[in-house]
Amino acid sequence: MADVVELIMQDHRTLEKLFDELRQDAGRRPELLDKVAALLTAHSRAEEERVYPVVAKDAGERDEAHHGAEEHHEAEEMLEKLRGMSPEGKEFEEKLKEFIDAVKHHVEEEESDILPALRDAVSAERLKELGTAFAERRRQELTDGSSGSGSGSEERTKDDLYEEAKELDVHGRSTMNKDELAEAVDHQHSS
Ligand SMILES: [Fe+2]
Repeated sequence: MADVVELIMQDHRTLEKLFDELRQDAGRRPELLDKVAALLTAHSRAEEERVYPVVAKDAGERDEAHHGAEEHHEAEEMLEKLRGMSPEGKEFEEKLKEFIDAVKHHVEEEESDILPALRDAVSAERLKELGTAFAERRRQELTDGSSGSGSGSEERTKDDLYEEAKELDVHGRSTMNKDELAEAVDHQHSS
């Protein structure tokens, strides 16, 4: 498992690619905006719940963490407006540029301040643990499909669990039922 800083930066690069496509390919805008929304929401919730608390506590960057979460919400609001607009014309172009600039500004702050501070503050092992926690929360949000408040319902399908077991190289996974898979996966995570 990659460490949390690497995972966050991977998402940033994916977002930037989607932004380039959004600017260039007007015909695919609705579909691309849906993709951006799903990724941005999952990434932001995972970051706010699994990473920023550590940034605030262990790295002593409470204000930065708070500011980061605020910027997530601003970006999400801008994106919601965009998704409600006709994806052509001058106004859309302007709002799209504002949204992209805001996210890029946030990404830059994270990569120049927040993530280096986190890297300095915790061990390499902890960064990997945080990577696992981040990835799990992110996946939960993505498979949930709702951008709601994630009230702790951690409904995983058998397929999700099987995929996870495969990544963790759980032995005997192909003959396990759903409960057995869940138990094996959770056990691996906690060991
Ligand atoms: Fe962020």
